Amino acid sequence: MLSIIDVAKHFEGRTGPVIALDRVHLTVQKGEFVTVVGPSGCGKSTLLNLIAGLIEPSEGHMELDGERIRGIDRRIGYVTQSHNLFAWRTLRDNVCFPLELAGVPRAERYRRADRWLEIVGLQGFAPAYPHELSGGMRQRGNIVRTLIYEPQVILMDEPFGPLDAQTRITLQDLLLRIWQETGSTVIFITHDLAEAVALGDRVVLMGRRPGRVTHIEQVSVPRPRDIQHIHDDAEFRSIYDRIWHKLEKQTDD
Ligand SMILES: Nc1ncnc2c1ncn2[C@@H]1O[C@H](COP(=O)(O)OP(=O)(O)OP(=O)(O)O)[C@@H](O)[C@H]1O
Ligand SMILES: [Mg+2]
Repeated sequence: MLSIIDVAKHFEGRTGPVIALDRVHLTVQKGEFVTVVGPSGCGKSTLLNLIAGLIEPSEGHMELDGERIRGIDRRIGYVTQSHNLFAWRTLRDNVCFPLELAGVPRAERYRRADRWLEIVGLQGFAPAYPHELSGGMRQRGNIVRTLIYEPQVILMDEPFGPLDAQTRITLQDLLLRIWQETGSTVIFITHDLAEAVALGDRVVLMGRRPGRVTHIEQVSVPRPRDIQHIHDDAEFRSIYDRIWHKLEKQTDD
């Protein structure tokens, strides 16, 4: 179980102090898929940066299985909003990087990398460098680099943002299958409410600055879900409309 306990984050920005998160309290069950939506600048990436241990909270703390998270934790994988692939490494060596850190021998690293690259449709691009790939291809590499070492918790910050609709559906479907097979816990940020409802067990709504959780909606659509046709599902529609209404009200406030 992952607990975010009364966490606040203040930044001393160039334009003055910023309250990026204001006492966020959230408990995510082991194996749960939680999606987060909210307006730009409401603190979504900050929340993931905190859980990933890249930054320190100003108040409160986070726990994984009852143990305080301090700094970077190998049990937690992070697919960041921008790809961060190393320019001087090939795609294969980029996605292998976490395995290399873990001391996995090269042959085994490459075997796993090639299998993953094939799954996301990048077979044949293993020897290419990031600048030789399209934005969507780099993003797929970025996702594989985290999934390849099967972390217990997977943080994803708008991972499918730069992808075309077709690739997006394929990868959403793939992610759900991997999640169901591995039993990992996922926290997934998106701007796309339909994506949030289609993927999540719960949708967490965040409000404008200072960043707060304003609403949590349970998504009762049964699994396994048919991502391609879920938009026609009556239950999906009613949950989508209910959250949409909340978002509208939030913008008016
Ligand atoms: N390192 C930093 N220094 C100063 N201010 C920061 C820093 N990181 C984030 N902020 C501020 O914190 C607030 C929240 O930023 P954050 O990146 O978490 O938003 P977000 O919800 O992820 O937005 P988006 O949807 O556009 O990605 C913003 O006002 C931003 O300017
Ligand atoms: Mg962000």
